[in-house]
Amino acid sequence: MQSALNPNGVTITGTGFYVPTSLLTNLDLAASLDTSDEWISQRTGIRQRYIAEASAETSDLAVMAATDALHRAQLSPEDVDLIVVATSTPDYAFPSTAMLVKQKLGSRAPAFDLSAACSGFVYALSISSDLMKSGAYHNVLVIGADKFSKIMDWQNRNTAVLFGDGAGAVVLQSRPGASSPFSLLGSEERGADTLISPVTGQITMHGREVFKFGVRILESMLTKVMGELELSLEDIALIIPHQANVRIIEHAADKMNIPMDKFFMNIETYGNTSAASIPIALAEAVEQQRIQAGDIVVLAGFGAGLAWGVQVIQLG
Ligand code: ACO
Repeated sequence: MQSALNPNGVTITGTGFYVPTSLLTNLDLAASLDTSDEWISQRTGIRQRYIAEASAETSDLAVMAATDALHRAQLSPEDVDLIVVATSTPDYAFPSTAMLVKQKLGSRAPAFDLSAACSGFVYALSISSDLMKSGAYHNVLVIGADKFSKIMDWQNRNTAVLFGDGAGAVVLQSRPGASSPFSLLGSEERGADTLISPVTGQITMHGREVFKFGVRILESMLTKVMGELELSLEDIALIIPHQANVRIIEHAADKMNIPMDKFFMNIETYGNTSAASIPIALAEAVEQQRIQAGDIVVLAGFGAGLAWGVQVIQLG
């Protein structure tokens, strides 16, 4: 199947992630909300999450993850020729979070934000690798970073228990002959009102609708991409889904007859970190040696919009 991926030479050479140090457990939440550790862990799979200091902005989380990824790719910020940050919790309306990341890293690269909620990282990776195919960019930082704690209504148990803060990053590099990421992006005709974070204000969500969408779209996008690339389950080393709710993944896995150990899950530790969830999971999977160079990995994002994106990558 490897020939099905375009061999025009864009590959991931470094992954990194960062979560803040302040731990918020389900028990901590149950002390101030009408909820329980049992309800949260049984309904979502989440046991804890990390919350950023009030003074730490999304760009700060992003810089930490980017520094980790650059270090692993053995590149310095001056080598980077484009920075893309997927986020729905930007520091400001402008400048973009990516411009702040660029400044904090000490880079002169062009930089921009991309907003596609929990599908953001997959969208950003897709656009970045397509831009690189033009030949104009060779070393690109793609970051997913979100600080949902700043848009959370901490008195609303429907949403407060689900999210955590964090950032994940990859370095994409030109490598002649390497297999480039293959992406399929999409969205639903309806559902824009299912999950909303107003420009000023807090998140509202129809949890059940999002849940049903997650199960349906995960099955549909995995089927689509495996069909398109003629991939069998054995060809795939690991599937890294957006970490929204472990039951979404279990339902989809069950419907597709895919064993749960084919999916990388870390929602128990970090909660839903939105655009950061897939790159954090990817970096952890590399760190834990669940995947190695040459492995085929499927990334599957879904969320507000309702948007989805699936990507097949081969680790460099
Ligand atoms: N603690 C205790 N009880 C709760 C809580 C809570 N935190 N939240 C809801 N309940 C109660 C409800 O009030 C309800 O009580 P009732 O039966 O007396 O009316 C009961 O639990 C069941 O509520 P449901 O909403 O039906 O529970 P469900 O099993 O659907 O789980 C959940 C809710 C976890 C939100 C689930 O629907 C879900 O995970 N949806 C997906 C959400 C998501 O992933 N959002 C992010 C998408 S990514 C992005 O783009 C940002």
